[in-house]
Amino acid sequence: MCGIVGYVGEKQALEVVVSGLRRLEYRGYDSAGVAVVADGTIQTRKKAGKLANLEGLLGDDPLPQSTTGIGHTRWATHGAPNDANAHPHVSGDGRVAVIHNGIIENFAVLRAELEAAGVTLLSETDSEVAAHLVSAELAQDPADLVAAVRRVCQRLTGAFTLVIVHADFPDLVVGARRNSPLVVGVGDGENFLASDVAAFIEYTRDAIELGQDQIVVLRRDGVEITDFFGEPTQVTPFTVTWDASAAEKGGYDLFMLKEIAEQPKAVADTLLGRIGSDGLLQLDNMTLSDHELREIDKIVIIACGTAYHSGMIAKYAIEHWTRIPTEVELASEFRYRDPILNSRILVIAISQSGETMDTLMAMRYAREQGSKVLAICNTQGSTIPREAAAALYTYAGPEIAVASTKAFLTQVVACYLVALYLAQVRGNKYGDEIATIVNELADMPGKVDLVLDTTEGVRELAQEFADAPSVLFIGRHVGFPVALEGALKLKELAYMHAEGFAAGELKHGPIALLEEGIPVVVVVPSPRGRGLLHEKIVSNIQEVRARGAKTIVIAEEGDELVVPYADHIIRVPACPTLMQPLVATVPLQVFACELATVKGHDVDQPRNLAKSVTVE
Ligand code: M6R
Repeated sequence: MCGIVGYVGEKQALEVVVSGLRRLEYRGYDSAGVAVVADGTIQTRKKAGKLANLEGLLGDDPLPQSTTGIGHTRWATHGAPNDANAHPHVSGDGRVAVIHNGIIENFAVLRAELEAAGVTLLSETDSEVAAHLVSAELAQDPADLVAAVRRVCQRLTGAFTLVIVHADFPDLVVGARRNSPLVVGVGDGENFLASDVAAFIEYTRDAIELGQDQIVVLRRDGVEITDFFGEPTQVTPFTVTWDASAAEKGGYDLFMLKEIAEQPKAVADTLLGRIGSDGLLQLDNMTLSDHELREIDKIVIIACGTAYHSGMIAKYAIEHWTRIPTEVELASEFRYRDPILNSRILVIAISQSGETMDTLMAMRYAREQGSKVLAICNTQGSTIPREAAAALYTYAGPEIAVASTKAFLTQVVACYLVALYLAQVRGNKYGDEIATIVNELADMPGKVDLVLDTTEGVRELAQEFADAPSVLFIGRHVGFPVALEGALKLKELAYMHAEGFAAGELKHGPIALLEEGIPVVVVVPSPRGRGLLHEKIVSNIQEVRARGAKTIVIAEEGDELVVPYADHIIRVPACPTLMQPLVATVPLQVFACELATVKGHDVDQPRNLAKSVTVE
């Protein structure tokens, strides 16, 4: 939510900042703005709407040359997405410019205080108070901008990343971080700040994770990091494992299409190095000891959105392979319902971005209650893995499209690796049994590739149903979360009414939604794996057809039993039951992407959404 970039160095800051914003635009696209320090002044340009609008403005009204600058893309929280509420916000004297990500929870009190002191605020945002406060604090000691920022941070509550420049400090960018992401990029004679490494990957792969309540001072020749009280702090440098090309469209029209196509590699990369020559698992960063893992008597998975669906799938595998009772909860609900937690509960937090505030807050709560937290995450340097007791990274590479695709598949794979590792450590399965499942996993990149080769029919179907008033998705067992994921993709991309249901649940109410011609997508389990489930879903298909629905059936190659009941069939390669989500989800991603394209929507940046939801 909101993309932030700061730069100081020898290059033209505006070019670096705008190119960084382009890479971060997926974080929010309600408005964009930049500020540079030039000739003893702060110069800003900002514009509602996508970054292209700001670029247009910069073309009409260029900024002066400068080597120090900041930039912001906004996902609106406080105040409408208009020019006035766009960042940067500037102090009354025009000498401080601030960009902000997060929510300053005590902004109303601070705003009242500023107004009482005669300050005129020009926006409806919570963020603007920070610019005026920095200005007021600096007046106490005009030589020390950093100390002024520190004092302001001590007064703010809530979540904030602030990045600040001042007209009197032309070679300085100051950043502060509490609960919202901020990463430092370390260059040669230049340094960067950004919400995400993607912003500076073109210039450097050397980065530093910022911890909670830290202040970073960026100069051309160095980076200094302290806490909010000026004390030096421990920092964690890391090297970004992917390069700039990974964050480009690479010849595809859409990031989403590229990311769908990258799924075989993403799955293969997530397995890489984690399976020994004996077929057993060796998990990097598994800092929980075997003893601790044997002590666990319950698992709770917390996540949001697509990551939550991957957790739902994981539950089936974890319980089946380890016999550890497993619950899956929406992180936003978990945190506030007084859950029962203790040191024998392993909490698995799943997050592509590693910054989702609902998941982060739920995870912190679990830690406070004594539970061990294992993070499954795709983003190096992000908060969730850093604060977890152990982390397992998915190696999907940067996911730029707002709709999650390759992250989902790799989250399922990572959860399976954890489940198998638990089974191995706790002796729930023999080594050869684990090796068999590991081999099945290792076959999945090839099978996903086969699905990708046959998506033309899915695209045609999407075109056929573009005017449907509603699309229902049903599945059983692991097909149920796949159905939920198919519906979520359609809602967020095609803005269509879509619902996912457990197929057996349909007759308990939702079947009343069916009308003549409504498409119902059915995720059919393998007839070989759990035969009973197959029979049951065939009955469910008949129930919906009897009410005039058009069935789009996702069934494995060779399943002829469903043919008489399907209006349309999408074939996926035969797989063991628990592996089926890895192939069955892919056509649903393509279906949603194509429907959104047919409807003329912005697939990579759907309305009202942002990639990384860093507010609760
Ligand atoms: O970064 P996270 O995995 O924590 O994000 C969780 C959800 O916000 C995310 O999966 C969201 O539902 C996707 N946009 C769905 O495509």
